[in-house]
Amino acid sequence: MRKEGNEFLIGDVPVKTLAAKYGTPLYVYDEQKIRANYRKAKSAFEKYYPDFRFFYAVKACNNPAIASILKQEGAGIDAASVNEILLAKKIGLGGKDVMFSGNFLSDDDIKQGLESGVIFNLDDISLLPRVLKFGEPEIMSFRVNPGYGRSNVGEFVTNAGPNAKFGLHPDQTMEAYRLAKAAGIKRFGAHMMPGSCITDPEYFSFITKLLMDIIGKVGRELKIDFEFIDLGGGLGIPYKPEEDGLDIEAAARLVAETFKSKVSEFGLKPPRLMMEPARFFVGNAAWIIGKVHSIKNSYKKIVGTDVGMNTLARPAMYGSYHHIYVNGKEDDKRETLGLCGQLCENTDFWVKERELPSTIAEGDLIIIENAGAYGYAMSYQYNGRLRPAEALVNGKDHYLIRGRENFEDMVRHTAVPGHLAI
Ligand code: LLP
Repeated sequence: MRKEGNEFLIGDVPVKTLAAKYGTPLYVYDEQKIRANYRKAKSAFEKYYPDFRFFYAVKACNNPAIASILKQEGAGIDAASVNEILLAKKIGLGGKDVMFSGNFLSDDDIKQGLESGVIFNLDDISLLPRVLKFGEPEIMSFRVNPGYGRSNVGEFVTNAGPNAKFGLHPDQTMEAYRLAKAAGIKRFGAHMMPGSCITDPEYFSFITKLLMDIIGKVGRELKIDFEFIDLGGGLGIPYKPEEDGLDIEAAARLVAETFKSKVSEFGLKPPRLMMEPARFFVGNAAWIIGKVHSIKNSYKKIVGTDVGMNTLARPAMYGSYHHIYVNGKEDDKRETLGLCGQLCENTDFWVKERELPSTIAEGDLIIIENAGAYGYAMSYQYNGRLRPAEALVNGKDHYLIRGRENFEDMVRHTAVPGHLAI
């Protein structure tokens, strides 16, 4: 996003034009920015470890147009559920281009996962006999919880370590692979998810070392040649203007150094190195355009907008910060204001105090930054405030990539039994 005079543009399109054409609230993605983020990360990792591939964790933003950009760039898909496997299929990816990393799977999940022929990543040793009951995945990995996790989003998003619900305990890992090998599985990988939104490059090599010390022993003792080792996602982005971003070049170098030294320490055949980030690709490549509907002066001065916690759940859910710009007014004098959405819940008062232009008025457009990851994907319908639309900008071109929900969408799967319909 850039500013021309007082007006903001996404790509080459003024936010005013986008709001007028598609309405508000509106998620807007910048195709060029997603490609640039992807290429930056890919070239950093390939430079230090050429046999490298990214799988895009589609849970962060599941619009097929966005996933297609990453597919065009060469990414596979990391799917958390059967529906995400189907989404990958819809954009032309299947088999070994898809990693199925679900957790606490049902029998139906397992059956459909096996039928789709994707890489099966098991979150627990107890899943192994349940999977084998229905068939044998061609390539299988276990998600290992190396005993440590971290996240800039706080404890909410720490997906590894003793308090996480994910992954195999290190002490179960040898047994899990032993049983899988004894059952006839021939092709193996290994996986972890170290946490989300981490901007410290050293952390990635630290956690890689923990994983490799577990997996290296398995490879050596069971004589398994791992085809891949997937270090998960977690590549962070800054949310506050004063925060530093992740030095991706340093992260790639440190991870590759640790990885290569552990591969040689344990005498492993060099596996493909994989990662499955999402936030780093799409997080800073989307904005929400909202509109100020009314401003109230009561106990506090509160700006009421059409961007509620149902549009962007992260602030109400995790206390996350998202920067807000006011179109046309950024250079004006500031005052401490509150800002909220239109829902009947006080968690919808999602900015309690923020320095915003004191001239902010009804009808103004606000722009919320870093909305590409876990933004639309975590939006919901509540109070009859339905999910917004999504648009994609590519230079001066723009496209609607998901329509705004309407009343019919709200009642689509409901039914009123006959005795109540009188
Ligand atoms: N792989 C697995 C198995 C995951 O569970 C996740 C995210 C990723 C990859 C991608 O992680 P990333 O590179 O985006 O950090 N809703 C939270 C984030 C939850 C992360 C869930 N797992 C938020 O809004 O911050």
